[in-house]
Amino acid sequence: MNVARMPRPDSVALVTGASSGIGAATAQALAGLGCRVICAGRRSERVQAVAEKLGGKGFPLVLDVTDPDSIAKALASLPADWRDITILVNNAGTDKGGRERFDKGNIDDWVGTIETNVTGLIRITHAVIPGMIERDLGHIVNIGSISGFTPYAGGTIYAGSKYAVHGFSESLRKDYRGTGVRVTEILPGLVRTEFAFQRWEDDPEKAQKFYDDFGECLDPEDIANTVAYAVSQPPNVVISQLVVLPSAAG
Ligand SMILES: NC(=O)c1ccc[n+]([C@@H]2O[C@H](COP(=O)([O-])OP(=O)(O)OC[C@H]3O[C@@H](n4cnc5c(N)ncnc54)[C@H](OP(=O)(O)O)[C@@H]3O)[C@@H](O)[C@H]2O)c1
Repeated sequence: MNVARMPRPDSVALVTGASSGIGAATAQALAGLGCRVICAGRRSERVQAVAEKLGGKGFPLVLDVTDPDSIAKALASLPADWRDITILVNNAGTDKGGRERFDKGNIDDWVGTIETNVTGLIRITHAVIPGMIERDLGHIVNIGSISGFTPYAGGTIYAGSKYAVHGFSESLRKDYRGTGVRVTEILPGLVRTEFAFQRWEDDPEKAQKFYDDFGECLDPEDIANTVAYAVSQPPNVVISQLVVLPSAAG
């Protein structure tokens, strides 16, 4: 096992879904640890803006995790000194059209959620992990959800996707135990981000009401702090899972 303490200064991190919410805050937190951060997402002006805020420590990368060509081309376009990714934060996610009874949901939305939250996460991991194995140094942080162990009506697909992230993360950690590749799953409760606005993209008032009715929510920085904590542990420690709740819900 590689015994280097993580993250080394200038380590390269890739954060998917860095254009808003938890991903943008995580990019900031990892840069604060001294990492150089590849900020990935579909909206180029947003990833550009997040990367620019990190100064020389940010690199914008436009990619769609549901599109294998987009992933391959984006990763191949990285400059040589940004290719040795040691931290991968699989954060991109959606619940577009969610919180509906299964038969009432749009099948393309349902499939899109699985392709983003599960297949996309697997594709990115499969593309990035060989370099980690070769260097015997890497940390994969998957952003799951408390929906990954708490089913709810209207959550067939989103909760199903996060159950898959949970099973994938647990098994992945065991695949690489005893090596320098570590795997962490962060399972947040409700975080106030743009997530509900993506879910109900035609009804922003409903999204706003969803957060307001809930009352106290987590902030994206709360989750970013837990990612920073997980990747800063000494080599003999792996944070396997971290459930993070708003204190009022705990
Ligand atoms: N908010 C919560 O209460 C909560 C709770 C538990 C877990 N989570 C999880 O936290 C993660 C981040 O969500 P968030 O709350 O920060 O929501 P958000 O503000 O809506 O951010 C979602 C991010 O995912 C990216 N994304 C979506 N589809 C993508 C695709 N096909 N390819 C690349 N990027 C894609 C979006 O970027 P582009 O649109 O630019 O591509 C955006 O940056 C998700 O996995 C979510 O399931 C959220």
